[in-house]
Amino acid sequence: MRDAPPAGAPMIEFAAVTTLFGRRPQRALERFRAGADKAALLAEGHVLALADLSLTIAPGEFFAVMGLSGSGKSTLIRHVNRLIDPTAGCIRVDGIEVSALDRRGLEAFRRRRVAMVFQHFGLLPHRTVLENAAYGLEVRGEPRAEREARAAAWLERVGLAGYERHMPQALSGGMRQRVGLARALAVETPVLLMDEPFSALDPLTRAELQDELAALHRGHGRTVLFVTHDLDEAARLADRIAILRDGAVVQVGAPADILERPADEHVRAFVGAVRRDRPQPPSSPFASPSAG
Ligand SMILES: Nc1ncnc2c1ncn2[C@@H]1O[C@H](COP(=O)(O)OP(=O)(O)OP(=O)(O)O)[C@@H](O)[C@H]1O
Ligand SMILES: [Mg+2]
Repeated sequence: MRDAPPAGAPMIEFAAVTTLFGRRPQRALERFRAGADKAALLAEGHVLALADLSLTIAPGEFFAVMGLSGSGKSTLIRHVNRLIDPTAGCIRVDGIEVSALDRRGLEAFRRRRVAMVFQHFGLLPHRTVLENAAYGLEVRGEPRAEREARAAAWLERVGLAGYERHMPQALSGGMRQRVGLARALAVETPVLLMDEPFSALDPLTRAELQDELAALHRGHGRTVLFVTHDLDEAARLADRIAILRDGAVVQVGAPADILERPADEHVRAFVGAVRRDRPQPPSSPFASPSAG
């Protein structure tokens, strides 16, 4: 049973992170610390997205984050490459305190340490598939020949050999997501962030890309932080799963722990609801559409 991460220095660490959206987050933080809950804060005009959340993810771990719509999953993942800053607390990646980076430090960090795959692909429409896949390497200043060779190798790896000169709009959703995947993998960062990367895909493509990702993870040992609404997907891919509710972790553990020993009624209901949604066996590619 692994409800604790493996021993050793974590790759990603959230330490007492509280994130409030609204006009006066610091004031709302005081109210939160004085005991105001999400509903009370909302009535005062603030959204409590993360509530004193702590979590550590080990190097090489495949870590899935689940929870109802609005529970804080995207907010959580977006702290890792600092698309969002916390109101309080601290995020460390490989020992680097992300909030403490200056602009240049943050640029270097994003080029070298973390890559992200977005739900809606985030491709550059006026660039070819190859240029899109090579984009992270271009930003990093790698010479054209090298970056294109590397991008082409990754495109082949995700099953897109032959499409290098195509434009993104000429591709299907599944193919676009493969380009997004190749782009994120080509930079070979130690950390890969994925916010519902497969939720827009048809069941077969989704299952294929899950297999591809699992194989890549086994082969490369990168740390993956993966948001999904799909319990089967999480159980299939992840070493550990965290369940969020109202911005707090209600349970973290190996997939079997979550399924067999839900920590409380919320997790039981959550797991039960997901199961009832989809009565197919665990390997089933039939997943519910994302709410996000
Ligand atoms: N930029 C923002 N401004 C205001 N509120 C925000 C912002 N981003 C997120 N929120 C709020 O924070 C809470 C958590 O949002 P988040 O996007 O992290 O949820 P989620 O778990 O990813 O949901 P979903 O499954 O629907 O994608 C929600 O109540 C949301 O409305
Ligand atoms: Mg989200």
